[in-house]
Amino acid sequence: MEGMVVLGRTSFVYTLLLWSLKDCWCAVMVTVTPKVDAIKGETAILPCSFSSPVTLGNTFIEWFIEEGGSRKRVAFRTVSGATEGIDEGNQLSGRVSMGQNNSLLISPVRVEDERRFHCQVTAGISGTGEATTKLSVFFAPEKPVLAGSSQPIPVDQTPSPQVGQCTSRNGFPAPRLIWYKNSNPLPEVKDHNEPTYMVSSVVKEASGLFTVSSTLYLRPKKKDKNAKFRCTVEYSMPNDTIDQQNSESFTLNLLYPTEEVTFSLMNSVPVKEGDNVTMKCVADGNPEPTYDFTFINKGKETPKHATDGMLTLHSVTRADNGTYRCEALDFDAKDIELTKELKLIVHYLDPVKITPAGSHVVPLGESIQLECKTKGSDVHTLEWKKGTATLSNSGMLMINSASYADAGLYICESSVFTVPGLYARGNVTLRVSGKPEIAPAPEAKVHNMGDTVTLSCSAYGYPDPQFSWTPSGKQAVMVQENKVISTLTLEATETVLNGGVTCEATNEHGKDTQQFMVVISKESSTDNGGAGRADKQQGGAAGVVVAVVVCVLLLLLLVTLLYCLQKNGKLPCGKEDKKEVASGDIKNDIVVEMKSEKAKEDTELLSKHPATEQ
Ligand SMILES: *[C@@H]1O[C@H](CO)[C@@H](O)[C@H](O)[C@H]1NC(C)=O
Ligand SMILES: *[C@@H]1O[C@H](CO)[C@@H](O)[C@H](O)[C@H]1NC(C)=O
Ligand SMILES: *[C@@H]1O[C@H](CO)[C@@H](O)[C@H](O)[C@H]1NC(C)=O
Ligand SMILES: *[C@@H]1O[C@H](CO)[C@@H](O)[C@H](O)[C@H]1NC(C)=O
Ligand SMILES: *[C@@H]1O[C@H](CO)[C@@H](O)[C@H](O)[C@H]1NC(C)=O
Repeated sequence: MEGMVVLGRTSFVYTLLLWSLKDCWCAVMVTVTPKVDAIKGETAILPCSFSSPVTLGNTFIEWFIEEGGSRKRVAFRTVSGATEGIDEGNQLSGRVSMGQNNSLLISPVRVEDERRFHCQVTAGISGTGEATTKLSVFFAPEKPVLAGSSQPIPVDQTPSPQVGQCTSRNGFPAPRLIWYKNSNPLPEVKDHNEPTYMVSSVVKEASGLFTVSSTLYLRPKKKDKNAKFRCTVEYSMPNDTIDQQNSESFTLNLLYPTEEVTFSLMNSVPVKEGDNVTMKCVADGNPEPTYDFTFINKGKETPKHATDGMLTLHSVTRADNGTYRCEALDFDAKDIELTKELKLIVHYLDPVKITPAGSHVVPLGESIQLECKTKGSDVHTLEWKKGTATLSNSGMLMINSASYADAGLYICESSVFTVPGLYARGNVTLRVSGKPEIAPAPEAKVHNMGDTVTLSCSAYGYPDPQFSWTPSGKQAVMVQENKVISTLTLEATETVLNGGVTCEATNEHGKDTQQFMVVISKESSTDNGGAGRADKQQGGAAGVVVAVVVCVLLLLLLVTLLYCLQKNGKLPCGKEDKKEVASGDIKNDIVVEMKSEKAKEDTELLSKHPATEQ
């Protein structure tokens, strides 16, 4: 009907246009985003667009809210922008504007802006259209804060005591608090008769934001002593997102009586005298009780002082062997044994005792018996040793018909295999007395008469022999194990070379003499002067080896040649009898002859060599 009126007032062309669009000619289609999410304090954009058959500059777009039971306009404009404005006197005043695309901009968004907004378009002849947007406002609450009672809580208390309070401030919409025990959520229980329940509250702040808090009541068990409690705030955010923030976690300071006492030795290896020993007593109650320690030995009880349940004994002796008792002083404990005992075994080994004791002098050829003894807490070994050799595995050591070689240090060692580090050791020195015995000596060599020569005269015998030399010279004496060695340095005079030198060793048991020969060594006399010697020295071992190899090769060649000649009859054999033996033997014979000659040369060459190096 209205279309007919308009028809009369407008041009024909325009009418045709309307008719061609007749499917929607009478409708203004308004499109908005039905649901807009915004965060408090930020900017919310509420888009609005429309379509109409004819859009004229004076098409009018208005945004409305509902306030106090009636519609109030908050902003408006015409498509051309010729007219536009903001309405005063509503809760959005001062915070809204309209974009050229007809969006409503709210900045900053407040929680009370959560409401419905209507975008209305009035397009003259095309009529009016409208669409509604719902604005939702969000605001993340603060991290939850725990106000825990740090008071100790006795277990199994009735009614359930308060164990913690959790508060999360300023969220929108109102967030939810969830309690966790060891990362398992606790179901929300409101019934105060249950062992575990929560009391929650929600407070709306002046800002419109919500502060939520929850108090947890529970009846803790001993097994909850290490349980970690916390609370979590769960809240909605734009785009259907759910976020969480966790509080710090806390454990309960539970009070419970001792149910078990343990008393144990901390040492990992068997205890021996001199060790430090630690014994630990632990009662599983909270608070941990104090302890009383007692040492019980042969019915006598001695109190022991200890701190924190640790009884430490320094450098124990066998007197510390015995029973130790720990008593946990927990007066809340019921029907349990608060006393524990521990047997401390201190292993020991006495110092070894050797009889006869001290140092001994045994006449040459006589016998001696040594006995080694010790006492200990355990089975132990007894070993007699001289140097690295083990002589006896019992405590007895028998030396029959003592020789000078038997003189020396004898060690008796005792050990307990089951107790590492437990051993005892003693020793005895044995001397064999008798007349001196001089060890035979090789002849001494000099290069030339008049050279200095040093002779060593080594004699067994105890008491230590005295030495005298004829002829005499510069003398020195040293003691080596069970021998005494006298060294003499003198000039190899003609007398010395002809008559030798005599060493005489004497002690109270008798004497021994030994003649030392001094000779001019052959090598030094065949030495033919400076130049030759220098050459030989330079040639060295390599020269000798080359010479030997060449000689052998030449000899082999010669042998082969001789053999061939003889076999062909070109060379008559020198000896009659050689003709009679088989040809194979002849060959062997010759080889043997040559070899022995070669060997002689070799020895000469080799023996010369060390002489040249001197
Ligand atoms: C409308 O205009 C505003 C600024 O005037 C802009 O922020 C917004 O993104 C625009 N919206 C659309 C749907 O174009
Ligand atoms: C919400 O989702 C829309 C589209 O999925 C995205 O453009 C926008 O950034 C999201 N907003 C937030 C706050 O995540
Ligand atoms: C025993 O304890 C004392 C003092 O703490 C320490 O000096 C000593 O080295 C310890 N002895 C042993 C064998 O551990
Ligand atoms: C050491 O003490 C233990 C335990 O009380 C006991 O069995 C043992 O006979 C004692 N040993 C010695 C040598 O006293
Ligand atoms: C022999 O025993 C003595 C005295 O007990 C001791 O001082 C000495 O060190 C021991 N000698 C050896 C080599 O064990």
